[in-house]
Amino acid sequence: MRIVVADISSKAGVDGLIEAVKDLEIGILVNNAGVEAKGFFGEQSPEKIEAMCYLNMTAPTLLSRHYMGLMCARGKGAIMFVCSLFGFLPAPYLSVYGATKAYIKMLGEALISEMKPVPGMDVSILSPGLTDTPMGQPFLATNPGFPVDSPEHTAMVGLRGLKGKHVIPLFGNNVAAIVMGRCLPSALVRWNQRSMMSKLLNLKTNNPWRKESKKLQ
Ligand SMILES: NC(=O)c1ccc[n+]([C@@H]2O[C@H](COP(=O)([O-])OP(=O)(O)OC[C@H]3O[C@@H](n4cnc5c(N)ncnc54)[C@H](OP(=O)(O)O)[C@@H]3O)[C@@H](O)[C@H]2O)c1
Repeated sequence: MRIVVADISSKAGVDGLIEAVKDLEIGILVNNAGVEAKGFFGEQSPEKIEAMCYLNMTAPTLLSRHYMGLMCARGKGAIMFVCSLFGFLPAPYLSVYGATKAYIKMLGEALISEMKPVPGMDVSILSPGLTDTPMGQPFLATNPGFPVDSPEHTAMVGLRGLKGKHVIPLFGNNVAAIVMGRCLPSALVRWNQRSMMSKLLNLKTNNPWRKESKKLQ
């Protein structure tokens, strides 16, 4: 086993990681690393947005491209994309994060399909709901009692799906979120998401751009 520390929110970081393990045969690639940024889109720094987009979208894309080639040449391997329920629904106040996860969902679904006829090669997607990790904990602190999965359960569901599936830990809330995203008119979904997300994220202030645009009128 080798532990490599790498910041993969840039091309240099991704290249450094690939270089650091180039002598190893990578059997399973789990694209798990990810960050989120809560709050109003207009208040997030462009640098932070750029790094988040690289980490959540570009790094998994390039790592998958690199290792898929090697895995196919060997005739076996598995790649897992870690998505989110926010890949299924708009996520106001987590807007860029949600959009990066929608990208991962689309990429993963396409690659599951493309790789289906390739023997020995599996692509899968894990779409967790709220999970009790450092990312989920601030949300849980302000919403005690909200249904939450343990990291162990989420990881187990991911492992069970490794052979070419898109898996979702089936908590009541997760199912409801996906059914809502697929079945309701999008205007209703947007309205519900905006009021629910501002409550769940404990956002007490008004959108700062609202004041600015009033001044301009
Ligand atoms: N927790 C949830 O409720 C939830 C729900 C849906 C989806 N997810 C997804 O699940 C995945 C794991 O999240 P988590 O809940 O375990 O969050 P977490 O506790 O905040 O862990 C984030 C992981 O990403 C790694 N990471 C962050 N920035 C990195 C960088 N620049 N370069 C390399 N690695 C970096 C961290 O590594 P270090 O520990 O070394 O910093 C850590 O392993 C993410 O893709 C997230 O979007 C989480």
